[in-house]
Amino acid sequence: MPVKVSKICCIGAGYVGGPTCAVIALKCPHITVTIVDLNQSRVDAWNSPDFSLPIYEPGLVDVVREARGRNLFFSTDVDKGIEEADLIFVSVNTPTKKSGVGAGFAADLNYVELATRRIATVANSSKIVVEKSTVPCRTAESMRTILEANSKPNCRFDILSNPEFLAEGTAISDLFNPDRVLIGSLETKEGEEACRSLVEVYANWVPQERILSVGLWSSELSKLAANAMLAQRISSINALSAICEATGANIDEVAHAIGYDSRIGPKFLKASVGFGGSCFQKDILNLVYLSESLHLPEVAAYWRQVVEMNEYQKRRFSKRVVDTLFNTITGKRIAVLGFAFKADTGDTRESAAITLIKDFQCERALVNIYDPQVEEAQIWNDLSEASPLIPIESIKKQVTICHSAIEACKNAEAVVIATEWKEFLEIDWEEVYKGMNKPAFVFDGRLLVDAEKLTKIGFKVTTIGRPSAAA
Ligand code: UDX
Ligand code: ADP
Repeated sequence: MPVKVSKICCIGAGYVGGPTCAVIALKCPHITVTIVDLNQSRVDAWNSPDFSLPIYEPGLVDVVREARGRNLFFSTDVDKGIEEADLIFVSVNTPTKKSGVGAGFAADLNYVELATRRIATVANSSKIVVEKSTVPCRTAESMRTILEANSKPNCRFDILSNPEFLAEGTAISDLFNPDRVLIGSLETKEGEEACRSLVEVYANWVPQERILSVGLWSSELSKLAANAMLAQRISSINALSAICEATGANIDEVAHAIGYDSRIGPKFLKASVGFGGSCFQKDILNLVYLSESLHLPEVAAYWRQVVEMNEYQKRRFSKRVVDTLFNTITGKRIAVLGFAFKADTGDTRESAAITLIKDFQCERALVNIYDPQVEEAQIWNDLSEASPLIPIESIKKQVTICHSAIEACKNAEAVVIATEWKEFLEIDWEEVYKGMNKPAFVFDGRLLVDAEKLTKIGFKVTTIGRPSAAA
């Protein structure tokens, strides 16, 4: 008989574990959900009386407000969380390895392994262990080996893979109304029963036909495949944007035209300054590493090109800024609007803005940055990580963090739109124009602003996927 889940523990209170398990708690009031994390300040923020949560995600506060203290708890007591639960989500970070075998490509599974070992050590009863973090294929097998080698008598561990497909910025609506929930299990009687237990949890709000059960390895690979194909679409449209800029075509019109083909569809065809986020690059590099390990070099090269095209897009954009500003930006002030990797999140992981700003720094420009959500400390942290050889004091001489778009644009030669925050649409561009040095340039890396309107005000506007005005 499948276990009826009444207590869930989620290890890892980050961008994935936090929102996912908060929504499970909201939708399943009969299940106690405890989210545990080793990071005390993160847990404190989740528990903060004024709901200043550690991550910004539209709608998240309302979910936490309703469920916290009712059946949703945040704690640093990892062991207690594990001990009490019937089902444990492992939702820890899996960054790309920085050193050793597979450095720069393979996922660092140290956190997954430590969490798994903790489960084996602490558990006194059987558990369903669900791998939620994005992991390379066959991680579940490693987790199973660790758990089985360390389990106590009468403790069984069933492993499931249940990758998360939420996108940041829309996490809550994605969780409320997912395209699909994917659950991978071993094709044994016990595996299938464990799968049914988790299906029952999701069935509290997700229609049965959207809950897909597949084999463990298919589930693990599907997550990498979905992200690789989404990123590939962006690299494809970005590759076409370069052709548009050189020929006079308009990438928005091209995307609109091809999106009408029902086989292609209109979503995820927005040319940009390059994709960012914690998943796309990491997952593709993972796939590249997997392909190489499987002696499939052509497959590896194919996927690697998606990441290379993204790097090219970022480089191309910063070069266009320099070229347009009369081939030098030394000593010129550039306002970068947006630092997050996309709108509606405070997350900056792999954000294209970081690369652009680094390029501007290398050209010895002065950079003003404004982002509505990203914390100042995070920006300094990212910039010093991007240029490890430059002391932070030197970076601070070149870079200023501002508190509004208007302030950032003051006395600047150029405005670069790096993130598609809605509020940038509502900026008083006449006012911005007045405060800038002339000629005043705008570089729209997100196809956000109305280029014609800005041109009328007097700006020289350069847009991704459109030829430069002078051409
Ligand atoms: C992605 C996947 O969408 C999600 O299913 C998975 O669970 C995690 O990875 P996320 O990285 O949060 O989600 O955001 P997403 O909306 O996919 O955007 C990724 C990057 O692509 C952003 O930098 C975004 O600005 C960029 N993007 C997206 C484009 O440049 N053009 C587009 O048309 C869409
Ligand atoms: P993601 O985007 O995948 O959610 P995050 O980095 O936002 O990744 O969150 C992962 C969280 O997992 C971090 O808050 C980290 O402190 C936590 N974590 C990592 N290892 C462990 C562990 N062994 N036990 C508890 N929490 C852990």
